[in-house]
Amino acid sequence: MKRRDFLKMAGAAGAAMAGGSVMAAKGGSSAESEAPQKYKEFAVPAMDKVRVGFIGVGARGSGHVGHMIAIEGVEVKAICDRYQDWAERAAKRVVDAGQPAPDLYVGGEHEYRKMLDRGDLDIVIISTPWEWHVPMCVDAMNRGVHAFTEVPAAYTLEDCWKLVETAEKTERHCMMMENVNYGRDELMVLNMCRLGVLGDLLHGEAAYIHELRGQMNQVERGTGSWRTPHYMTRNGNLYPTHGLGPVSHYMNINRGDRYDYMSSISSKSKSRALYAKLNYPEDHKWNQGRFTCGDMNTSIIKTAMGRSIMVQWDENTPRPYDRLNLIQGTRGTWAGFPNRLIIEGETPSTHSWVQGGDLDEYRKKYEHPLFIKQGEIAQKMGGHGGMDFLMLWRIIYCLRNGEPIDQDVYDAAAWSAVGAISEMSVNNRGRCYDVPDFTRGKWKVREPLPVVS
Ligand SMILES: NC(=O)c1ccc[n+]([C@@H]2O[C@H](COP(=O)([O-])OP(=O)(O)OC[C@H]3O[C@@H](n4cnc5c(N)ncnc54)[C@H](O)[C@@H]3O)[C@@H](O)[C@H]2O)c1
Repeated sequence: MKRRDFLKMAGAAGAAMAGGSVMAAKGGSSAESEAPQKYKEFAVPAMDKVRVGFIGVGARGSGHVGHMIAIEGVEVKAICDRYQDWAERAAKRVVDAGQPAPDLYVGGEHEYRKMLDRGDLDIVIISTPWEWHVPMCVDAMNRGVHAFTEVPAAYTLEDCWKLVETAEKTERHCMMMENVNYGRDELMVLNMCRLGVLGDLLHGEAAYIHELRGQMNQVERGTGSWRTPHYMTRNGNLYPTHGLGPVSHYMNINRGDRYDYMSSISSKSKSRALYAKLNYPEDHKWNQGRFTCGDMNTSIIKTAMGRSIMVQWDENTPRPYDRLNLIQGTRGTWAGFPNRLIIEGETPSTHSWVQGGDLDEYRKKYEHPLFIKQGEIAQKMGGHGGMDFLMLWRIIYCLRNGEPIDQDVYDAAAWSAVGAISEMSVNNRGRCYDVPDFTRGKWKVREPLPVVS
């Protein structure tokens, strides 16, 4: 479609946007059905209190508990984990904050269903190993509980569709909690994109480059115990969304644009096997199997509106942390790690970056309203520099005000699908694959995510 035609269509749809359906039209997952005439973002009636249950309170989930109890209007009702001591540790945080002790559900791997069956939970926060995200989200939604899952939401296309279809059928929220979208820099860049400061967006670069081999020390329980087997059975981008989520919001993916097709290649796999050999005895679990996942994965995506995105993933090699966070438009470029900016006609040159302390004046100008409002408290509360708290605060705000949430099931599916397709492509000599349109055409009529305050 020509951009002119798209704008005409988007305008017509915008004019018809009052009222209308709250969720996607149901239907077959494979065929792209007609875009609805009217589209209103999905929201549920405002909740006075938000009654929360947690599944998984290990490294990540226990942090979520700590943040949630500090947010007004939240009642922590129940906690589920495989381990008694971790469940009790999380429950103690609730009691120490002056709330009644939550009920604990501990033991079997399906104990969480008993918690979901209790009937008084509005939402569930899922911070379990990757293989549990989809069954837990689906079980929650089927019981009327809104599902909020850690990243990635899913890692097969079939599972991505399962989330979309269950959310549509049950009319429940299903959010993949991509915290990086609530980072101070990412929010500011989103604001700049919405203001048109960088012009028409052309290209983005996203990554999760984080040396995590030390997690292999967790053999019996904890992150490394379940994450390491993924590196021994799969090959592709296993964790695509931290870099990709923000770039997708900048580009209005699912809201005016969408991923169209992509391909992916991985380097050979060396670093984890070397690490295991160096650090563990020969008969150690991590020296028994073979590491299949390439150390560095690179994917390229073309969007329907003609943009390009590069996504990289490397949790394996000695290299400084990096999410790239680059967005390039006809008027300028923002690049992260370290932060750099060029705006034609505004920064001194189109050949050299503004960086370091010189960025302060631009930050004053473009800081995101949400960060201006909540940034100080978020930074005090912490969690990756405040982004974790800000994300949870914003979720609760939306629920208590009956507003749509910023990341919906279509984002969860599309952003996660990039990981799933990277594996398909890597295993087929970098073959190009179409990315499903999980919105079934609604991306054409949805409004961009507003600059929320
Ligand atoms: N967004 C972020 O910045 C971020 C950071 C770290 C981890 N994560 C994500 O958080 C999730 C959890 O990671 P983690 O590092 O906390 O792992 P972890 O191993 O420390 O915690 C996982 C917890 O889930 C529990 N669990 C497993 N199966 C269960 C079941 N069937 N029923 C109930 N509880 C079950 C385990 O007992 C454990 O306590 C992962 O999806 C990971 O990718 C996200």
